[in-house]
Amino acid sequence: MAPTSSSFSSSHTNGEHGYAEIDWDSLGFGLTPTDYMYMLKCSKNEEFTNGKLIPYGNIELSPAAAVLNYGQGIFEGLKATRRKDGKMVLFRPNENALRMIKGAERMCMPSPTVEHFIDAAKQTARANKRWIPPPGKGSLYLRPLLIGTGPILGLAPAPEYTFLIYASPVRAYFKEGGTALNLVVENEFDRASRGGVGGVKSITNYAPVLNAMTRAKKKGFSDVIYLDSITGKYIEEVSTCNIFMVKDKIISTPPTKGTILPGVTRKSIIEIAREYYGFKVEERQIEIEELMKADEAFCTGTAVAVVPIGSITYQDTRVEYQTTDNNDSVCKKLCSTYAAIQNGEIEDKKGWIVEIN
Ligand code: COI
Repeated sequence: MAPTSSSFSSSHTNGEHGYAEIDWDSLGFGLTPTDYMYMLKCSKNEEFTNGKLIPYGNIELSPAAAVLNYGQGIFEGLKATRRKDGKMVLFRPNENALRMIKGAERMCMPSPTVEHFIDAAKQTARANKRWIPPPGKGSLYLRPLLIGTGPILGLAPAPEYTFLIYASPVRAYFKEGGTALNLVVENEFDRASRGGVGGVKSITNYAPVLNAMTRAKKKGFSDVIYLDSITGKYIEEVSTCNIFMVKDKIISTPPTKGTILPGVTRKSIIEIAREYYGFKVEERQIEIEELMKADEAFCTGTAVAVVPIGSITYQDTRVEYQTTDNNDSVCKKLCSTYAAIQNGEIEDKKGWIVEIN
């Protein structure tokens, strides 16, 4: 019988102090299978209710599943962190829930409510708590999926949907760790177009960036910056994260008007910059030439966290930004405050932290 949330006990823990027995110091962003996943199905026009935790493993799909044939699917990413005070916490899960609801509407899918989403995320984190890394050694990345699993041949919304959350312990996303990224501006491919799905976390936004990204990685770059698909002049985002620049202490980032993912970390960094530091933050179009003249640039994302950009290459020009030696760095300030709120070292005045234990 599949376990329920209440059937988890310390009998599932092992290793020192109840942790899973893995080398926490060698975690990157690879998949480490954990113990349980949350799963729930519902038919078209029904509501999602009463999911359950089941052992982590493969799922069965019809070859005609809408997600396989027509890409009807969205996902989320959020992290459970273990603090020095023993608390285990999620960061702003309501934001992920709201984004999933918006994405589901765009992709013609039913979605779990905010309360349901948060409860499912808490249950998944709690059931896998031995996989939540020790304080300071990473976090448990939760990956909610909402996919059309019902079979359909003609193009139409699927007759059945699955909401699933699996988890994996992770640390730094990029092989560079927390050190500065070297980005290249993509000249051939666009990430999103006007009226498309660039502004929701559709699974269909990710495979199309693989070509440019792997090409860039082969040349030694960390990732790719995309330009807008209409003029090819304005920066949009990186394959895996949002982008910011700083010039004369003013922080700027592209606006979320449909082609850019409204990142939870992006939103949090804007609020931290304004409310904790009094920085001016502008959400506006930024020409690539302007970014090349910035004092600083950095990326934000749940997986990526907040990472400085060390260089950007655009056509034949490479510019370098001061990063590690720069004690006055805006990125460093924002990054440390963002981390300190999650770690409990700074009071959470905004109700961003949700305890799971
Ligand atoms: C996240 O930051 O959570 C994402 O979903 C990005 C993904 C490319 C790992």
